[in-house]
Amino acid sequence: MTTVSLPFASPELAARLAAHAARLAAAPVRDLFATDPARFAALSREAEGLLLDYSRQIIDAPALGALVELAQQAGVPAAIERLFRGEIVNGTEGRPALHVALRDRSGTPLAVGGHDVRSLVSAERARCRDFVSAVAGGARVSATGRRFTDVINVGIGGSDLGPVMAVEALRSYARTGLEVHFVSNIDGVQFADLARRLDPATTLVLVCSKTFTTLETLTNARLARQWVAERLGEAAVPRHFAAVSVNHRAMDAFGVAQDARFAMWDWVGGRYSMWSAIGLAIELAVGSEHFEALLDGAYAIDAHFRSAPLPENLPVLLGLLGVWNRHYLDCASLAVLPYDSRLHRFPAYLQQLSMESNGKRVRRDGRTVEWPTEPVIWGEPGSNSQHSFFQLLHQGTSRIALDFLLPARSSVGLAESQELAAANCLAQAEAFARGYTLEEATAELLAKGLPAERAAELARHKVHVGKRPSSVLAFERLDPATLGKLVALYEHKVYVESVLWDINPFDQWGVELGKHLAERLAPAVRGERRLDDRPGVQALIDRLADWRRT
Ligand code: F6P
Repeated sequence: MTTVSLPFASPELAARLAAHAARLAAAPVRDLFATDPARFAALSREAEGLLLDYSRQIIDAPALGALVELAQQAGVPAAIERLFRGEIVNGTEGRPALHVALRDRSGTPLAVGGHDVRSLVSAERARCRDFVSAVAGGARVSATGRRFTDVINVGIGGSDLGPVMAVEALRSYARTGLEVHFVSNIDGVQFADLARRLDPATTLVLVCSKTFTTLETLTNARLARQWVAERLGEAAVPRHFAAVSVNHRAMDAFGVAQDARFAMWDWVGGRYSMWSAIGLAIELAVGSEHFEALLDGAYAIDAHFRSAPLPENLPVLLGLLGVWNRHYLDCASLAVLPYDSRLHRFPAYLQQLSMESNGKRVRRDGRTVEWPTEPVIWGEPGSNSQHSFFQLLHQGTSRIALDFLLPARSSVGLAESQELAAANCLAQAEAFARGYTLEEATAELLAKGLPAERAAELARHKVHVGKRPSSVLAFERLDPATLGKLVALYEHKVYVESVLWDINPFDQWGVELGKHLAERLAPAVRGERRLDDRPGVQALIDRLADWRRT
């Protein structure tokens, strides 16, 4: 347990929280999980079709009550209002963070910088819908007059992870017949693989970059441009490219046609942008109706987040549990484990959302934080993950928090398979909570007929200490609306945590240093200059150059 208190807790509350944590740490596993039949009712909440079962967290009602007091003392309700009202919540960049406006269904006007955000958003939504309908319906064809069959989304970070995660998650809802692909990485491998098998004459390239200055995206977009121009002629380029950005000058320079440009705004952060035109790849895959359902789902959680009392508020609860596990249980990482392979990119999406937002060590006012902030987020779908890293989760020396995501229905109509997935998910959640004692292990081995000495020896290896904190987030099925709810839930969880940690979740200065250095180093790697001020790096560059020559 961290000895430093959280920023906004009064000394009395901080002492009470620490006492709860110490009491729960000392409580035998079975006392926590076995003796209270009402635990599920007390420690689970359902809203908007999402059931959050946190009865396997190392928490109880009094400790949770103290956490809710912490949320009050930290000003979470006022912070929620500041977000929705479009106040400047991103202090270092002097901006609001209005991803919620992108899916707002309330009709409430909202002005930012003299513009009505609502009309900007709905005008751009209408343009996206028209574009999708024209591409999918064959009204907008390629330079050769053929229908587009494939779309390549070129982007990285928030201009890639949300779209790719959602396109994968909603494969069962693909309706347009367009095959959507993604190119993000700087090394060109994804592009080369696609260029080998796609026909440029039927491929639309969508360049997504809020800034249109990101090296990876510009490099890949130029490769794609060259591919189209070489095969179809320079004049074909405007027909084969669309782009989403705030940077109109860069889109001019690239040659993106006026009617294939879509707006982004400064008040939408990259990792919060899949609801904007950055989500065009999703809409091109699943169609506008399903994309609207995704927005509806997110709005349902927005409305819940804004209005539900703190103890009933799912994003608040998730945020409080996140802070509790990080601060009082020393959980330095959170594994996200979806029991539906369609969600295989969800952990990667959450990595950027959570770690780029809250992986910070400076408070809003510039002081250094004294408490741990964002844990490492990682994960893989169950049950694959059971057969790789679950060993460490069960018996390793670090305690890792776990979020299980569990749909009741199969995404592919294989009900029995999904029932087995559910059984596995729940079995794991139980095993992580309750563990397996030395006595149980010994009894099992003795029952199998092992001699007492051998049973005692082996039993030690079979012990699972348990008390691994987990939540199960269950829902009926992974449809567009549910996906929208899940993403909005985690977005708001991240915001709640940022308030409790007193950090700005909407900037990302930590990605800049490496970017600038890469720009400086690139000419040296190409052999155009030498880095005399960095002999160690130059030595490595020289060795790479040797290999390239041979
Ligand atoms: O990696 C940093 C970052 O700035 C992310 O925040 C952002 O999502 C990504 O780069 C891509 O930025 P852009 O959309 O401007 O190309």
